[in-house]
Amino acid sequence: IFLHGAFFTVLCYVCVGVLISGSNICTSRGVTTCRQCLAINPDCAWCSQEVVSRCDLRQNLLDAGCDGASLEFPTSSLTIQEDKPLSSKAFGTAVDVTQIKPQKLHMTLRPDDAKRFTVTVKQVEDYPVDLYYLMDLSFSMGDDLARLYHLGNELAQTMGRTTSNLRMGFGAFVDKETSPYMFTATEEDIKNPCKRIARTCIPQFGYKHVLTLTEEVERFTKEVGKQEVSRNRDAPEGGFDAIIQAAVCKEKIGWRQDASHLLVFTTDAKTHIALDGRIAGIVQPNDGLCHLDGENNYDKSSSLDYPSIALMNDKLSANNINLIFAVTEDVEPLFKNYSELMPGTTVGKLSRDSGNVIQLIKDAYARIRSKVELELQDVPEELSLSFNATCLNGEIIPGLKSCSGLKIGDTVSFSVEAKLRGCPKDKSRTFTIKPQGFKDALSITVDFACECDCEARAVPDSPVCNNGNGTHKCGVCECHPGRLGPHCECAEGDYTPSDDVNCIQKNGSSICGGRGDCVCGQCSCHRSEYGQVWGKYCECDDFNCLRFRGKLCSGNGKCDCGFCKCNSGWKGDNCNCTTRTDTCMSSIGLLCSGRGYCQCGACVCTQPGAYGDTCEKCPTCPDACTIKKDCVECKHFKRGQLADDNSCNRICRDEIKPVDKLVFHDKNAVNCSYKDENDCVEHFQYYEDESGKSILFVVKEPECPEGPDILVVLLAVAGAILLLGLAGLLIWKLLVTIHDRREFAKFEEERAKAKWDTGNNPLYRGATSTFTNVTYRGN
Ligand SMILES: *[C@@H]1O[C@H](CO)[C@@H](O)[C@H](O)[C@H]1NC(C)=O
Ligand SMILES: *[C@@H]1O[C@H](CO)[C@@H](O)[C@H](O)[C@H]1NC(C)=O
Ligand SMILES: *[C@@H]1O[C@H](CO)[C@@H](O)[C@H](O)[C@H]1NC(C)=O
Ligand SMILES: *[C@@H]1O[C@H](CO)[C@@H](O)[C@H](O)[C@H]1NC(C)=O
Ligand SMILES: *[C@@H]1O[C@H](CO)[C@@H](O)[C@H](O)[C@H]1NC(C)=O
Ligand SMILES: *[C@@H]1O[C@H](CO)[C@@H](O)[C@H](O)[C@H]1NC(C)=O
Repeated sequence: IFLHGAFFTVLCYVCVGVLISGSNICTSRGVTTCRQCLAINPDCAWCSQEVVSRCDLRQNLLDAGCDGASLEFPTSSLTIQEDKPLSSKAFGTAVDVTQIKPQKLHMTLRPDDAKRFTVTVKQVEDYPVDLYYLMDLSFSMGDDLARLYHLGNELAQTMGRTTSNLRMGFGAFVDKETSPYMFTATEEDIKNPCKRIARTCIPQFGYKHVLTLTEEVERFTKEVGKQEVSRNRDAPEGGFDAIIQAAVCKEKIGWRQDASHLLVFTTDAKTHIALDGRIAGIVQPNDGLCHLDGENNYDKSSSLDYPSIALMNDKLSANNINLIFAVTEDVEPLFKNYSELMPGTTVGKLSRDSGNVIQLIKDAYARIRSKVELELQDVPEELSLSFNATCLNGEIIPGLKSCSGLKIGDTVSFSVEAKLRGCPKDKSRTFTIKPQGFKDALSITVDFACECDCEARAVPDSPVCNNGNGTHKCGVCECHPGRLGPHCECAEGDYTPSDDVNCIQKNGSSICGGRGDCVCGQCSCHRSEYGQVWGKYCECDDFNCLRFRGKLCSGNGKCDCGFCKCNSGWKGDNCNCTTRTDTCMSSIGLLCSGRGYCQCGACVCTQPGAYGDTCEKCPTCPDACTIKKDCVECKHFKRGQLADDNSCNRICRDEIKPVDKLVFHDKNAVNCSYKDENDCVEHFQYYEDESGKSILFVVKEPECPEGPDILVVLLAVAGAILLLGLAGLLIWKLLVTIHDRREFAKFEEERAKAKWDTGNNPLYRGATSTFTNVTYRGN
């Protein structure tokens, strides 16, 4: 018996194996070329030899007798080509500093396949810093300039604490030298724009580079000391022109390749933006190139428009420049808005006379260095990258490609998954992942394994394909136009009506379902621009399944011959219905708070007035007061069922606000009252604000019935007794009176009846005399 059992078990494994191999993802599509086969799934392989199914799982093909040389099965792979260790400290020049690891990767990816790798980033200590101070020299900045004369040394000292390798440079801007940005009325106005306000200042200029980045702090102080303000006509300044020039004129500015690049932009006014040039008739867009003349003045100021934000982003990022907007309070919101559009920039508030600029730069630098954000460049469209960050405490944050709150010297890592979604035109592409503002980058080369090697060995006009009527490629014939059939044996014009019978699925339907041609008694399905059509009668396809939000089978299943096959956890015709119910569980532990039912992972509230993800909100439900009553009891009075079993804080998320008396809050608020265990009436109001937060206003003092008053009781009792006594007396008196009356009446009646002599007094009795014989002594 045991042996029999074992035998059947083995048999059954075999039969299951056969079932699986009989229809798998590779075989079910009916693909006809090697390339299509590889695109189905990373597990599919192609055999150039004549076997049952040419596109199948690798093992199945080997089992079917396909020899290794005929097998096409490229696999995805990942090799690290350069992996220098991270540096901890930069010494002198930072030529050999490594802040990202690894530095070079090579990947081979099959369509639909993914590879994962980890990128580690470290901010090395004492990294060299290049600081270029770009100053608005319009008239109102006069006091700031005066202040900056004295700040040079201090700035160098402060920054010197963060890095021992600091270079500082200086440039200034006003606005385009043309009307209406400039006073141009007279020659005098041009020479001294401040003439009208009875001052002297230098002629207006667009942008001039003054001091190339240098280690000599005295030169910074000296050059700044030589500067004078100018004056422009309209309120906004032309600082964006200067940012572009400072970013792209690498040689003139002297940006070092291996250093942090800080560009400090100070201004107290709004700025002109792209297209503002139109009012001066300047229509040529900014070309983002360096245009500094021999005197280091920007010479295209009045012929090129202001740059766009996108252009600035591009140039700042390409040159690893961190822009710091140090602006006065009134324009801070504006620059904050610009900053949001420009990744990697920071905004600091400049005091009226720029006194706080050092602190501001220090803070901004700390902020820049406290954040690592990965930036992607040239990623092919077909490649999708997803990230998980592991920041300081080792916690993995899914979907994030940045870490903040770092100190210099901290190491963070990112797990990256690269998945190939389709086949790009080129065979191989290189892209980079780079922490923002760093010169270090990881360069990744991807080879797309979309092609089959056997395609290179194709034989055109092969004798195998009906004497040269097709190309023999990867073991199959690719027929010349006009020829059809597995070996190109049929011509398109040939027509044998008897063959058609084999191409009709059932009575009344058309040949090959109208989606193919009957060739040599076989359906040759038409190509569709949407996807594959297959099946004996071209009845199957993988694009005609139900879609939801544009995704085939809602992205939760596979389209199989017109029907969605849902992944586990999903159901429905289009697989958009999750079988989960935990999302419907309300905080009180009831599915949809008992006011509805759970459908596709969402509550359908049936109780009128109920809403919210789990129908938990329902101020107008008749039982809102009943439910909330328990919360008032446990949260406010610390008693009741919920307080006893310690579930109060779990179940009652409401905020309790004790009040003296209820007031009107909202028309949806409900006034409730109930009688507690002491027979006191407690009033409260249940109110939900817009954010859905529920608040219970509880009247501090419950209304209790007052105890009986002893004095009143005593008085009442005494009064009652007195009353009763009086009533008794009265009744007695009444009875006596009535009785007397009756007796008297009777007497009167008797008297009237009596018939006696008037001379005879009935009451008279004859006198009787009694004598006593005092001497008599008996016998
Ligand atoms: C900044 O952006 C916000 C929101 O887009 C807007 O309301 C505000 O007016 C903007 N501020 C300035 C100064 O442009
Ligand atoms: C990121 O984390 C999620 C969940 O923790 C995981 O499913 C995903 O595969 C991770 N992705 C990468 C690129 O590590
Ligand atoms: C193609 O097939 C036809 C018909 O079988 C045959 O006559 C012809 O020689 C073949 N070769 C070419 C190159 O057309
Ligand atoms: C198909 O049609 C033929 C002739 O019209 C008829 O004899 C046959 O019974 C039909 N078959 C089916 C399955 O309806
Ligand atoms: C699922 O799709 C059907 C049909 O498009 C739609 O009516 C239904 O609302 C969808 N369900 C969910 C949970 O999105
Ligand atoms: C609740 O009671 C307060 C105070 O008596 C009153 O102003 C308010 O209108 C009542 N709210 C409702 C919804 O009845």
